[in-house]
Amino acid sequence: MKILVTGGAGYIGSHTVVELIEAGYDVVVIDDYSNSNPSVLERVQKIVSQNDSADCGEISEIVEGDVCDYEAVKGIFDRHDIEAVIHFAGFKAVGESVEKPLMYYQNNLGATMNLIRVMEEAGVKRIIFSSSATVYGMNNEAPFDESMPTSCTNPYGWTKLMSEQILSDAAVADESFRPVLLRYFNPVGAHPSGLIGENPRGIPNNLMPYVQQVASGIREKLTVFGDDYDTPDGTGVRDYIHVVDLAKGHVKALEWSLKSDEQGCAVFNLGTGRGTSVVELVTAFAEINEVPVPYVIGPRRAGDIATCYADASRAEKVLGWKAEKNIEDMCRDAWRWETGREQ
Ligand code: WQD
Repeated sequence: MKILVTGGAGYIGSHTVVELIEAGYDVVVIDDYSNSNPSVLERVQKIVSQNDSADCGEISEIVEGDVCDYEAVKGIFDRHDIEAVIHFAGFKAVGESVEKPLMYYQNNLGATMNLIRVMEEAGVKRIIFSSSATVYGMNNEAPFDESMPTSCTNPYGWTKLMSEQILSDAAVADESFRPVLLRYFNPVGAHPSGLIGENPRGIPNNLMPYVQQVASGIREKLTVFGDDYDTPDGTGVRDYIHVVDLAKGHVKALEWSLKSDEQGCAVFNLGTGRGTSVVELVTAFAEINEVPVPYVIGPRRAGDIATCYADASRAEKVLGWKAEKNIEDMCRDAWRWETGREQ
């Protein structure tokens, strides 16, 4: 029995493949390398090879392919006895989605629908979907909980919310189909080995990779997008979660899904439940890593909300999962990855 991980060479996907293997699962990966590269999986192999536990799983097959490609995905289910799917594959740049909405809808929704079609044909009933706290939109007050109304302000966010809806409707049509929707808050950091981490192409959209590049001298300075929000220091507050904690949350969600007989869609926030401001994060990063991170205050970024952090109690209660790493761990591991130091 194996787990299919789509987008398994990506940032969160690769960290999840490590945790799955170390938890004893065999994994099949499909990735089109549009935002990653094959060397990531070579380094995943290096990490898990350092774990000499006999209970470790392995990567059974790596497929370079598009999850929208019916034959490519069907071939995986023909060759392997897939027990469940963890679906990461998708475009994820908010700004790019505003410029190229059709590309995002075609790719992200097409992948989800193709995957469900092949799963139905193969009789595979479990899927863990990579969703996002972005679905909580602009009209909720933090802490966000899973019962809150959802809405989106950009095509990327809509592809996440629409994929949730597609999975939910598929579960109504087939009571044995059991999707689990995981809404991530702000994933940051890297595996402590320093071998895998976030590798954004071009100018980073997100805060932490931008801070890393300022600290390493690739970028001159950080622009803080606004310091006039209704927050303690005026800068945006977010729920930063270590990517290894996030990856472990997927293993817990999988274990729960495989033994649960709860019908329909299950939704869980994966966050720490703690908010950290931009200036707090930048200050922590500079102090912990003893490296200057120069910044200037600039105008607000369109579409940003002041405060976003999770009510993470449902994942703790139902999945038995809770984030364990703190901001210091996130900053230290992010910097080790950025500077290429191996532990
Ligand atoms: C965090 C804070 C910015 C960059 C995004 C996506 C969301 C999800 C996570 C995929 C905010 C501030 C940022 C910079 C800054 N991705 N900032 N200067 O916007 O909370 O969420 O990533 O699911 O969909 O929207 O994350 O890292 O972009 O911003 O001041 O150069 O840092 O204003 O307060 P965000 P972020």
